[in-house]
Amino acid sequence: MSDALNPHRRPARTPRFPDGPQPDPAGSHHERRIRSFQPRRSRVTAGQADAIERLWPLWGLDIDGRRTLDLTELFGNDHPVVLEIGFGMGEATAQMAGDDPGTNILAVDVHTPGQGNLLNLAEKGRLTNVRVANGDAIILLREMIAPDALAGLRVYFPDPWPKKRHHKRRLIQPEFLDLAATRLRPGAVLHCATDWEPYAEQMLEVLTAHPRFVNTRSDGGFAPRPGFRPLTRFEGQGLDKGHVVRDLLFLRV
Ligand SMILES: C[S@@+](CC[C@H](N)C(=O)[O-])C[C@H]1O[C@@H](n2cnc3c(N)ncnc32)[C@H](O)[C@@H]1O
Repeated sequence: MSDALNPHRRPARTPRFPDGPQPDPAGSHHERRIRSFQPRRSRVTAGQADAIERLWPLWGLDIDGRRTLDLTELFGNDHPVVLEIGFGMGEATAQMAGDDPGTNILAVDVHTPGQGNLLNLAEKGRLTNVRVANGDAIILLREMIAPDALAGLRVYFPDPWPKKRHHKRRLIQPEFLDLAATRLRPGAVLHCATDWEPYAEQMLEVLTAHPRFVNTRSDGGFAPRPGFRPLTRFEGQGLDKGHVVRDLLFLRV
């Protein structure tokens, strides 16, 4: 029996918000087996739901993996575009966008409450230079961002995946850098930060070894936190536990 005629077929899931984030189709025809995130069931507050319903059609982007984005059209100007992967609740993103209106921030996460929160912050701060993408950043980079399109890439406090058997889920690895290097234009900065010491060492090792990135630090080490990066929510939690925070700033050559 064809699926369409099957009376036991489960109805397609309706999206939680009529015009809000759509289910990420990346898992179907753009399959990616190992993911750097764990889908979370988190409560969406009324304020976040309201922001998504009103603002997603304006500032939201569903990662469908089906087209290359025209970033000038997306932002309505040709300012440089920086991709931030994993913005969490978005407070640091909103602050950086407000501090630097001449730079567009394409912020991607899979976390619905954070998407609602960032949209709210963008509206409150009258920020016109933030767009919020829903889905897997790898699909976004691989399928939807043109070569040399990005002026920067920010990965702040990516999930550390501390257990050895989960290390393959860590975002910052050679294959990711191969992909990122093609989407970043020469001279673009890849900026990572982490409070997880072994991950910091791994980041430094793979970035230093990569032929298309060069450390901005002449001593080849970690960088002090640059003034433009605010403290993030995850960073605060790490600092409360006594963790040491490391920044890494590498140029795409
Ligand atoms: C540990 S949190 C850090 C959040 C924020 N940067 C901070 O410092 O507070 C990492 C975030 O990255 C997101 N993330 C991880 N892998 C991702 C991917 N492949 N695509 C989109 N988001 C991802 C997770 O959903 C999570 O919100």
